[in-house]
Amino acid sequence: MNLKKMAALSALRLIEDGMVVGLGTGSTAEEFLIVLSERIKKEGLEIEGIPTSFRTKKKAIKLGIPITSLDEHPEPDIAVDGADQVTERLHAIKGGGGAHTLEKIIAYASKKFVIIVDESKMSEKLSLPIPLEILTTSLPLVERRISELGGELNLREGSGKYGPVISENGNLIADAKFGTIAHPEKLERELNEIPGVIENGIFTRCDEVHCAGKELRILKKN
Ligand code: A5P
Repeated sequence: MNLKKMAALSALRLIEDGMVVGLGTGSTAEEFLIVLSERIKKEGLEIEGIPTSFRTKKKAIKLGIPITSLDEHPEPDIAVDGADQVTERLHAIKGGGGAHTLEKIIAYASKKFVIIVDESKMSEKLSLPIPLEILTTSLPLVERRISELGGELNLREGSGKYGPVISENGNLIADAKFGTIAHPEKLERELNEIPGVIENGIFTRCDEVHCAGKELRILKKN
C-alpha cells in the first residue's frame, strides 16, 4: 500500500460519527479525503469538513464530504493534515503548498491536531526553509528582521506567471532559511511578532503524528 494512504487510514480510525473535521492541504491530506469520503458513504456517517484551501474545498465537494466553516464550528473535533518535515518532538514545518495560514488557524482551533506523513518527512531537527505569508507592504521590514534573526528570506517564485507566489489571501509567500532550528517554539513566536508577517510555517501544537513506513508509528504528545 502507498505510504501516504497508510498514514491516512491510521488517522481515519480517530474519526467518529458526528465529528467536525479540519481538512488539510497537500497530497497526503488528499489521501485522507478519499478514505474519509469512502467511510462516510459506507457507514452513513454525519461528518462535516472544514477545508484549509480552495483546492481542498473543491476536492472535498467532489468527493461528497459536506463542508462547513470555523464560523459555524469554532472548535472542530479534529484536524488532519500532512507536513513537509516533522520531528520526534511533534514539531513540524508546513506550507510547501503556501496554505499554512489557514492550515494553522484550523489546526490550532481544533481539539486535536493530527499530522499524517510517510517516513521520508521525519527529521531529527527542523531544518527546511520556513514558509511565511507576508503583507506586500511589509516586505522590506520583514527582510531586515529575518536577517537580524540570522536568516535569509527568499520570495517564492510561481509558475504560470512572472513574479512571486501570491497566497489565496492575496499576500506574498516567501521562505526564510535558518538552517537547523534549535528552538522551534521561540522562532515560531518571533516570526509572528514581525509586523506584516501574517503566519509562519512552524507548527508546534500537534497532538499526534501518524508516520507510515515499513510499519506504522504513532507519536503522541506526552
Ligand atoms: C501545504 O501548504 C502544506 O503544508 C502541505 O501540508 C505539506 O506541504 C505536505 O504536503 P504533501 O503531503 O503533498 O507532501
